[in-house]
Amino acid sequence: MAELTSTAQNYEKVCAILDKYGCDSNKLIPILQKIQEEYNYLPEDVMTFVATKLCIPPSKVFGVATFFAHFALEAKGKHIIKICNGTACHVKKSIPIREAVRKKLNLAEDKNTTDDMLFTIETVFCVGACGLAPVMIIDDEVHGKMTPEKAIEIIDKIIEEEKK
Ligand code: FES
Repeated sequence: MAELTSTAQNYEKVCAILDKYGCDSNKLIPILQKIQEEYNYLPEDVMTFVATKLCIPPSKVFGVATFFAHFALEAKGKHIIKICNGTACHVKKSIPIREAVRKKLNLAEDKNTTDDMLFTIETVFCVGACGLAPVMIIDDEVHGKMTPEKAIEIIDKIIEEEKK
């Protein structure tokens, strides 16, 4: 994955992706998917660059990026914490888990990513593991039967690992 700080300057990878799709504006969605895989989100300057290279208005690229929930327009942290708040998880008290994690990460009401860009917290709705409710997913690893305490333990471990 590219360094989060170098997105504005680094268009080489974007060019490679565009070349792979023959700079075809009909392939805009897969192009944006590949770019998001590279950067973890769709930086604004990169979307403008894509529009220029594909000879289409930037509004079209931004329109597609904002239409699909799959696309992220803001930078995300290195570790993505998804807390399920689907019905089964909600009933089994997912909200206190989310609150405990937010508190642990010192996240203000309007923020989902820590200032050090280490964590982003997201709420998801049923990930198909209701039997394990309440569920928390970190970096695609599913942790079931969560409690606020267990969630904090997992995050502490990641923080420790990051210090090494
Ligand atoms: S409601 Fe959380 S996994 Fe189904």
